[in-house]
Amino acid sequence: MIKDSEDRYILAIESSCDDTSAAVMQDTRALSNVIANQDVHKAYGGVVPELASRAHQKNIIPVVEEAMKRAGIHKQQLSAIAYTQGPGLMGALLVGNAFAKSMATALDIPLIDVNHMQAHILAHFIKDERQAIPEFPFLALTISGGHTQIVLVKDFFDMEVIGTTLDDAIGEAFDKCGKMMNLPYPAGPHIDKLAKKGDPDTFPFNKPKVKGLDFSFSGVKTAVKYFLQEETAKDPDFVKNNLEDICASLQKTLVNIIYDKMLKAAAQYGIDRIAIGGGVSANSSIRNTFYQLREKGFHIYIPAFDYCTDNAAMIGIVGYYKYLKKEFSHEESISRSRFPIS
Ligand code: KG4
Ligand code: ZN
Repeated sequence: MIKDSEDRYILAIESSCDDTSAAVMQDTRALSNVIANQDVHKAYGGVVPELASRAHQKNIIPVVEEAMKRAGIHKQQLSAIAYTQGPGLMGALLVGNAFAKSMATALDIPLIDVNHMQAHILAHFIKDERQAIPEFPFLALTISGGHTQIVLVKDFFDMEVIGTTLDDAIGEAFDKCGKMMNLPYPAGPHIDKLAKKGDPDTFPFNKPKVKGLDFSFSGVKTAVKYFLQEETAKDPDFVKNNLEDICASLQKTLVNIIYDKMLKAAAQYGIDRIAIGGGVSANSSIRNTFYQLREKGFHIYIPAFDYCTDNAAMIGIVGYYKYLKKEFSHEESISRSRFPIS
């Protein structure tokens, strides 16, 4: 049953990795956006897929109930249910798929499949006083623990990946290097905080030479590993005594890699609108470095923090635009661990 009422409420569900999230959208506005983080992975220094699936199963009903409660609407008012079809961890995705499918069937409303990577980009279109909406075409940089991509965005559903990582994602580089320095998982926010008190020019790490608009981060990770091994052999307290400078130096290297590539992409495509998303866009040095480009006439967009990290509101905004196109999925819709953006 497709409802054509004036009030269009879409329930959105995200479960691709280690956050269980549910949001209720009223058209392009998020009435609620509840995110349950899974602390269970901290002890392992990374996401354990099996534990993620189990935690999603435990969290999904309370998270959806809380999202409905905060939005102040009743299930019968929902027009559709949008959920993350992929990419992501298969067991985690299956929980969201099964839940969304069952609820849509029970309520007899359409189900909408959403690509998580498209969602990170369309998060810029959530109507919220904290953020501005980019005009097409623009360049989107999606940086997270799982992805590092430059996407040419021509329209809502007309996107082309023009650069991607050949190995690790930038968030992984932050997290794995942090682990070498015994920082808690995820290390990104800790490195950001420590770097503020350090000198970024103390330990220059080489930037990788990668052709075109692609990225590589595994070289930096290896360089940091050998550097730390050599230095701690000489001084066992090296990391402890130089933590802030190491963090600042590492962060500068990682930020420079993405900055150089975005400038190259902007020149190549003649586009001065850059929209950044994904959990790593919370990084203060990334924010400052890109915001400084405004002085050179660039338009820089970074969503509100809760729309940057994995969240269901971004799934809901894609759901909304697909709802307008009546692009619904079917009972046989399946989760996709790999799911290209275009
Ligand atoms: O998008 P996200 O919540 O989850 C996915 O990976 O999909 O991103 C998480 C990543 C982690 O690698 C985390 O270390 C990183 O974002 N991160 C940061 C900061 N805040 C989160 N990295 C650097 N600086 C930060 N302030
Ligand atoms: Zn993500």
